[in-house]
Amino acid sequence: MSTLKIYRDNSGEALEAVTNHDTIASRLHSIGVRFERWQAAQPLTKDSTQDEVIAAYKSSVDRLMKEYDFKSCDVVSLHPQHPDKVALRKKFLDEHIHTDFEVRFFVEGKGLFFIHDQDKVYGILCEQGDLISVPANTKHWFDMGENPAFKCIRLFTTPEGWVAQYTGDKVADKFPRFEQF
Ligand SMILES: [Fe+2]
Repeated sequence: MSTLKIYRDNSGEALEAVTNHDTIASRLHSIGVRFERWQAAQPLTKDSTQDEVIAAYKSSVDRLMKEYDFKSCDVVSLHPQHPDKVALRKKFLDEHIHTDFEVRFFVEGKGLFFIHDQDKVYGILCEQGDLISVPANTKHWFDMGENPAFKCIRLFTTPEGWVAQYTGDKVADKFPRFEQF
C-alpha cells in the first residue's frame, strides 16, 4: 500500500502516517511534490518492451512532457538478482539534490523516497501505479531496498540534470530504510 510518513527532521520523531491516496497527494502538494495514480491503457506483462510500457501510459506521459517540457523518457528496471544492486542502492541513499526534476512512475514494484523540506522529512513508499515528482534542488534520498524490484518510467529535461549532488548531511541515517519502513 502506498504510504506517507511525516517526521521531524532533527529528532526523527514520527508525526503522521497516511495511506489514503488523496490525502498523501494533498500533503505532498503542499511541499510542491506531485503524487498521482496512473492507469495503463492496455495490459502489460513482465516482458513488455520499453515502447509497450510507454505506449500504455502515453496520455499521462504526454501530459507531463507538455506541462514540464520534458525532452525524453525511458523505462528502467531493477530486479533482486542484479549484480550491482548494492552499489546502485548506495548511490541514492544519502541526501542529495538534482538540478533537474526527478520524476518516476512505478509500472511495477516499489521504492521508498524521502523528501527533506524545511524541518520535516516526508517518507513516501511508492507502489505500482504511483507517479511522484521531486522538484529540482529539493533535498531527498531514495531507497530501493536490499532486493530491489521495480520498473519505472523516468522523464528528463536534460540528461545532465539528473546527477546526484550530495548535501553531505547524514540526515538519512536517522530514518528507516526500506526494510524497516
Ligand atoms: Fe535523486
